[in-house]
Amino acid sequence: MAGILVGALRGVPAEGIAENRRFEARGRPSPSYFLSNGGISVQSGKQVSVNKGGWDKSKVFEKDNEFNYQWLKLCREKHKEKGTIWISGTYHNIFSVAQMLNELDFRILNCITWAKTNPPPNLSCKFFTHSTEFILWARKNKKVTHYYNYELMKEINGGTQMRDLWSLPAVAKWEKSCGKHPTQKPLPLLARIILASTKESDWMLDPFTGSSTTGIAASLLNRRFLGLDKEESFLDISKNRREEINDIKTRFEYREKIIKYSDKPLKEIFEVHEETPYFGIDLPIE
Ligand SMILES: C[S@@+](CC[C@H](N)C(=O)[O-])C[C@H]1O[C@@H](n2cnc3c(N)ncnc32)[C@H](O)[C@@H]1O
Repeated sequence: MAGILVGALRGVPAEGIAENRRFEARGRPSPSYFLSNGGISVQSGKQVSVNKGGWDKSKVFEKDNEFNYQWLKLCREKHKEKGTIWISGTYHNIFSVAQMLNELDFRILNCITWAKTNPPPNLSCKFFTHSTEFILWARKNKKVTHYYNYELMKEINGGTQMRDLWSLPAVAKWEKSCGKHPTQKPLPLLARIILASTKESDWMLDPFTGSSTTGIAASLLNRRFLGLDKEESFLDISKNRREEINDIKTRFEYREKIIKYSDKPLKEIFEVHEETPYFGIDLPIE
């Protein structure tokens, strides 16, 4: 797996390498969670297998650590010194990721708990319903300070400091209009991450891009984005999603939807930029 990732990162489009572009951070990878263990879950009221695909099967602890070490090291090489990284996961992989971040000398800034407001029920009734995911936020350089939009986070949290517990729904049907990815993340979650830690036109890298929720949120918020995935079918979904928001009506509709999840609507903040719609800043998708 690690080998494929090395290949994927070396395959960064030529202009990214040639310009010696360094990523602000801001990748928000959700790597393999290693939760494809043959268990069961529920989707749209039906019993389904939790298996997501071969890429998600655990290869025993040492190998999982090695995989996480390798890809984090590669990302670190592409980061700007002031860059930060967000990594989502569950208890299956997040402790390994945290350990490898420490080994690579990142500084962990927060561990966000995303509490899903509508988790699928637990069919076995033998333990608590799984309803959370964890998102680690870390910065590359222990000495170089990072960007955090404290005021905006406070504002969208109704005037009080944003905490590290975020209650947001799981991915909604409208977000799957271009096909299904088994572990697609919700756009409002990514929008919050991006608004908290990036500025307009910043570059973001997601090396496990899947259906590119990170990239779609980045584009809706006028950030630049590069996504990598080893599965071509997921990249096809990504391209279709990117093309979908070329339609101005859809673009504005989606922006409305992602800002719904703040106590204070972000409308005013967005309106500052509305006079000239601005969406030609990401890399060409061919
Ligand atoms: C958890 S999913 C990411 C989902 C994404 N956040 C979204 O919203 O659609 C992880 C993705 O990483 C990809 N992947 C796994 N191992 C990889 C590797 N070694 N190199 C590149 N991509 C990989 C999988 O194909 C999968 O799409």
